[in-house]
Amino acid sequence: MSHAITVNGLNKHFANGRHALCDINLQIGKGEMVALIGASGSGKSTLMRHLAGLVAADKGSASEIRINGDIVQSRGRIARDVRRVRAGVGMVFQQFNLVGRLPVLTNVLVGQLHRTHLLRGLMGWFTRHERAQALDALKRVGIAEQAPQRASTLSGGQQQRAAIARTLVQRAQVVLADEPIASLDPESSRRVMEILTRINREDGVTVLVSLHQVEMALRYCPRTVALHQGKVVYDGPSAALTPDMLRTLYGMQADEFLSPVEATPQAQAPAPAANLGLVMAQAA
Ligand SMILES: Nc1ncnc2c1ncn2[C@@H]1O[C@H](COP(=O)(O)OP(=O)(O)OP(=O)(O)O)[C@@H](O)[C@H]1O
Ligand SMILES: [Mg+2]
Repeated sequence: MSHAITVNGLNKHFANGRHALCDINLQIGKGEMVALIGASGSGKSTLMRHLAGLVAADKGSASEIRINGDIVQSRGRIARDVRRVRAGVGMVFQQFNLVGRLPVLTNVLVGQLHRTHLLRGLMGWFTRHERAQALDALKRVGIAEQAPQRASTLSGGQQQRAAIARTLVQRAQVVLADEPIASLDPESSRRVMEILTRINREDGVTVLVSLHQVEMALRYCPRTVALHQGKVVYDGPSAALTPDMLRTLYGMQADEFLSPVEATPQAQAPAPAANLGLVMAQAA
């Protein structure tokens, strides 16, 4: 199988000595939809930033990250042509999402910039065809009505959807979404996850999405990679991540992933994976 994402021997120590990523090895096939879970501080965002080539791994280490076969970084050095590689990677990262004062449509059109002449893009001279494509993308994520609105006036869920629309216009083959539903209500979360699922299924886009709730991983992603203190502690079917399994992996920290009902002591009897969905449905 050809891989969309390959990570070999990835280690990252921050200047303060923190070993944030410990010997990460990961292969994600083209067209997969994979959840990345882990407690706060486990390294999810750090891993995502390394994949996007925004942060370099430890210098001199034998690490290598490839996306669609192209090197993003190797031995702690970001590839010279990382911009070209990044053109195929859609990022739905909270801190880079949208330019608040620009209209939603323009934010989405920015997804074209690697193909459009930069100056033309900055002046807002997009062709009618480009505008139509951006509007189509906004329709697909259900926020076409908001196209002329300033991005800063969108709700959190709408902003995430606009960021996903931008990855569509960009024709990204890989989407990295870092906690896209972290601050959303259940209905907005469901919409964002369903849109990611649709672009995965309909367009064959590879999706890696970090999530706090294991129920969401179970519901939307066939495969889960679980991080604990910078290490991959589980990589396999999401359905196998029962509350018991999570307690084995995370101990008391498992409660961070489970709904209150699952986390109570009386709920500690072995529960089949399907029960997680049930609990989620009851809680919603
Ligand atoms: N620039 C940095 N300098 C020093 N330490 C950092 C830096 N960035 C992250 N860390 C540390 O690395 C660890 C992993 O952080 P990261 O943001 O990747 O966690 P996370 O899994 O995304 O957490 P959350 O669920 O809260 O978003 C944390 O201990 C964090 O404090
Ligand atoms: Mg994070």
